[in-house]
This record gives sequence, structure tokens and C-alpha cells, in this order.
Amino acid sequence: MDGNGRWASGRGLPRIVGHQQGVRAVRSVVKACGAMGVKTLTLFAFSSENKNRSTEEVSLLFKLFLTVLKQEVKKLNKHNVRLKIIGDLSLFPEDVQQTAIEAQAKLSDNQGLTLVIAANYGGQWDIVQATKQVVKAAINGHINPEDITIDSFQNYLSLAGEPAVDLLIRSSGELRISNFLLWDVAYSEMYFTDTLWPDFDEVELNKAIENFNHRDRRYGARKEY
Ligand code: FPP
Repeated sequence: MDGNGRWASGRGLPRIVGHQQGVRAVRSVVKACGAMGVKTLTLFAFSSENKNRSTEEVSLLFKLFLTVLKQEVKKLNKHNVRLKIIGDLSLFPEDVQQTAIEAQAKLSDNQGLTLVIAANYGGQWDIVQATKQVVKAAINGHINPEDITIDSFQNYLSLAGEPAVDLLIRSSGELRISNFLLWDVAYSEMYFTDTLWPDFDEVELNKAIENFNHRDRRYGARKEY
């Protein structure tokens, strides 16, 4: 969800206003994904590297997460959305962690869209945390290192149990993954748009999906001409 800061500074506004507008974009994209039957939507809300921003911006972002989580739970529940938060939450203030646990528990039985929020998340962190679990299981004798496969390793990653990532969208004109999902995007289609995240809405989402629908997904196989 990139471009909140630029959206705000382009209007002479504080960066946090960009993040607040970004929440409006989140609402519209979550609603649209739910309505069109998307199984899982993963949003990169706070990267492992975002904590290096100014203390003021980081603490305002934490406050925003808390407000959004508290405010939106009822509406998410009404729309049958399940919530999963991935990342190292230990960095977050106690009240944010508690609210995150409660919101996930409240929405855990829902069967509609799974909304995954990546917070203090990094793709490299995810692979390392999975590796730690695998190594511990091997040391404890629960698994044999020789039996580790791509599929079994995947079960330790944060998105275990979710369908493969079909489409990765990056807003704001940057052509990088910036340590978002790494393992998981091995065969994802990528879509880059100049639109800043606060301006990303259902129309922009439909453009991305329309573009995705024309991709030829071969997963490394040769095309027969
Ligand atoms: C990146 O834009 C955006 C963020 C670091 C924060 C995104 C968070 C939200 C929209 C809040 C969502 C909340 C929940 C609970 C889902 P940037 O600041 O890097 O923009 P820039 O590249 O233009 O500076």
C-alpha cells in the first residue's frame, strides 16, 4: 500500500493524513474483493523496515492500526471476513497486540474473504522464522531433515493454509518487492501501477484483475505453438 506519504505531501498535508486516506482505500478494496469472491487478500501495512521511520510517524501509525482494528471489526464480521495478522507483533504496543488478538478471535469462524494484514512483516523474516521452527522440529526428532520438501516447509510460513498468491499489486510506481512476500510470490503475476495507494479503489482493482486475466501462466512449462 505504497504512496500514502507522497499523496499527502503533494497536497501540503502531514504524512499521517495520507495513511488515513489509505485506510479508505483499504475499505473499498476489502469490500470489492469480498463481493467478487477473492479467497485471500494480503495487505502490507507495516514492513519490518518501517520501524526505522520517525518516532512520530511510527507512533501515529500504531494509533491508526488500533483505531482501525477497533472500528472495523463489526463491519468485517457483517461481511463474513476472517482476519489473520502476520508479522512480528512483539514490536507493537501492548494495546495494539491485544486488540489484534481479540479481532482475529472474533472473526475466526467467518467463511468469506480472508483478510491478511502484514504488520512488522518482512519476507526474509518469514523465511527465517519458518526455518527456526523446522530446525527445532528436527532437533526434537519430530521431522527427519531428509523428509523436508517445498510443500512441508511451506507449512511453517505465515501464509500456510492460504491459497497460492495469484496476483501481487504494487501501487505508487515503484518496481520493487521491498521484502514483502518472497517465497509466496514464486509464480505470482506482478502488477505495478503509478496510482498512489490513497487513490487506489475498486476501479483500479478491476484494472489490475482485467490485466491479470490476460496473463499466460505457464509455471515454467513450455508453451506448445
Ligand atoms: C506506505 O506508504 C504505507 C504505510 C507504511 C502504511 C500503510 C497503512 C495503512 C494504510 C493503514 C492500514 C491499517 C490497517 C489496520 C489495515 P508510504 O508512507 O511509504 O508512502 P510514500 O512512499 O509515498 O512515502
